Amino acid sequence: MAPKAGGSLGLPRLRPELAARVAVVARLAAEMGVAAYLVGGTVRDLLLGRDGPDLDFVVVGDGLGLAAAVERELGGRLLRHAEFLTADVIDAGGVHLDIATARQESYAGMAALPRVRPAALEDDLLRRDFAVNAMALPLPLPEAAETEEGGAGRRGDLGDPGRLWGLVDLHGGRRDLASGVLRVLHAGSFLDDPTRILRGVRLEARLGFRFEPETEELARRAVGAGAFARLSGGRLRHELALLLDCGPVPAVASAGLERLQQLGVLATLHPRLAFDAAARARLRGAAAELAWHRSAGGPGPGVRAWLLLLLAVACGLSQGEREELGLRLLLAGEELRLVTGFAGRLAAVLPRLGAEALPHEVDAVLADLPGEELLLLAAQGGTLARSWVRRYLTELRPLGLAIRGADLLAAGARRGPEIGRALRATREARLDGAIGAGEELDFALARLTAPAGRGERR
Ligand code: CTP
Repeated sequence: MAPKAGGSLGLPRLRPELAARVAVVARLAAEMGVAAYLVGGTVRDLLLGRDGPDLDFVVVGDGLGLAAAVERELGGRLLRHAEFLTADVIDAGGVHLDIATARQESYAGMAALPRVRPAALEDDLLRRDFAVNAMALPLPLPEAAETEEGGAGRRGDLGDPGRLWGLVDLHGGRRDLASGVLRVLHAGSFLDDPTRILRGVRLEARLGFRFEPETEELARRAVGAGAFARLSGGRLRHELALLLDCGPVPAVASAGLERLQQLGVLATLHPRLAFDAAARARLRGAAAELAWHRSAGGPGPGVRAWLLLLLAVACGLSQGEREELGLRLLLAGEELRLVTGFAGRLAAVLPRLGAEALPHEVDAVLADLPGEELLLLAAQGGTLARSWVRRYLTELRPLGLAIRGADLLAAGARRGPEIGRALRATREARLDGAIGAGEELDFALARLTAPAGRGERR
């Protein structure tokens, strides 16, 4: 049953569908006799009066066992990461529940993945990145306790929702939340895991928080000590994507990139990667196209916002430097092709988007470009290129014929490759406005009987 998180007391509020999941986890944990808590970003966001898309739990005891029980009850999928003592349940309703055994970590070396072993809640909180992320709320939440067990006695201090909810806050997380600062729990935190610097920059940009001065100094020192050099490209790429993807564009991405530059992180991606005035202008241009694309309902191929914004900034690099950047981020396949080749392709395409170009020619030229390149072209190619790209995405690309090959066969055409050619020519004529929707069949049949159609057999 869902606890109705206490709005009447001015307490933080979970969305009902999330509260219902929390109540299920609380009940199953009680049945298994293990102590379970909401933890990390979920508690942070809850105390800030927000709630995120997923739920983080920590269990003193068998977290993997609890995750399996949750999956049996809520359905969906269970992903076990046994070596890290964690599991994710993506339940039948699509809600993501991250359930971890309380654990201690040891780092084999700078920026290496941690080795973990089960531990007490205090140890688990101590291994976390920032004080605001190192708080835990015991389950069940108060209202559930009240209705199920008459737990009204827990209501001590109405002025302090944190204490009322039995919040475990051993590192001053609530104080930091109130003053909007991010503070690491120990001096080696960024050396152990430099992705925390990127996480911190993301929280700064998203929540309007700021690294506390000593934490900022530790971040600079970790960068100076080469912590990023040992970080795998995959983890770097993942965190960078989260940072550039979060929040309204371009404010958050721009603030985040600014900070990465100040802290020396941008230069660890590539020494020549700079977020200077020109890069800021390119970012704004790309963000404006992204905003247009979203407002138009996202027509055409998908657009990964983080890649688009990274490409906009990376325009300042040479081809060879962009290849190095791609390698550093361990990009592969299409993403690598994008980062290394987009500038050359845009230069080749741009001259073909003139005022005298025909719509069907533009359709053919733009057909193979990924969404990110199309938007960059619109952002950087001038007014004409922008209007062609927008027209391509909203009007040309979606144009489909009402007739099919079967219609031509039914009208007496012979089977063969000419049918495909006639359909293509018909679509081109439609794109150019030479014929209307009602004229497709006649046009296609005329094409089939035209003298050009030689060579088909069967
Ligand atoms: N954590 C950490 N160091 C990391 C990653 C995560 O200490 N490099 C801890 C933090 O306590 C964090 C929790 O693990 O709050 C859960 O991580 P995650 O779900 O990735 O992030 P959230 O903090 O929940 O924030 P968000 O989902 O908004 O990114």
